[in-house]
Amino acid sequence: MPKTLAFDVYGTLIDTAGVVRELTGMMGDLAPAFSQRWRDKQLEYSFRRGLMGEYRDFSVCTRDALEYVSAELSAPLTEEQVSHLMASYRRLPAFGDALGALPRLKSLGHKIYAFSNGLAQDVDALLRYAGIDHFFLDIVSADEIRTFKPDPAIYRHFSMRSDTPVEHCWLISSNPFDVLGASAVGFNTAWVRRNPSVPFDPWGVEPDQISASLTELEHAAGLHQL
Ligand code: LAC
Repeated sequence: MPKTLAFDVYGTLIDTAGVVRELTGMMGDLAPAFSQRWRDKQLEYSFRRGLMGEYRDFSVCTRDALEYVSAELSAPLTEEQVSHLMASYRRLPAFGDALGALPRLKSLGHKIYAFSNGLAQDVDALLRYAGIDHFFLDIVSADEIRTFKPDPAIYRHFSMRSDTPVEHCWLISSNPFDVLGASAVGFNTAWVRRNPSVPFDPWGVEPDQISASLTELEHAAGLHQL
């Protein structure tokens, strides 16, 4: 049976560490730590805004997080550098395994969606830049209902948009918070453990599949054959 696959975008298909190169030119050795902290703070801001009911789109969370981390790590940035970094967040590379797995999954007839906290226009720009946009039936953005993953409403919204009951949806994500969020609503889940030193949250819920890459996942989840 072809499956409905909801691919998380940042960190799963698209490598956010791509900004490290830009940051290195601005701050040298601090760049990897800055990049990680920026990503963590971006997510924290989205979670907090979701809880508070103070929605602003994901690019606002990204920009605010950049300003915060610049102050926190005493790494001042000019307005021009901030604009450059924000622009580079729309021009990030796809992980190599995504380039291999997506055409195979599409040719098998699976229904492939990009499912992201990011604005549809930003995700569209990213997927186009990375050369993978044509593999997706559609982009489902949390912005459509002005909330963020892991709000259960957004996973139900995906189910509605893809016309697939939750028990037949697959969430494929490198982000444990996303896997737990989807699992709580009844999705099948696949955790792509891109960084082996990152543990899964010990909440007593396991992903249905764990793999080190999208290539490994195709086999582990039986997606390579129908
Ligand atoms: C996304 C982030 C949360 O693409 O990874 O939704």
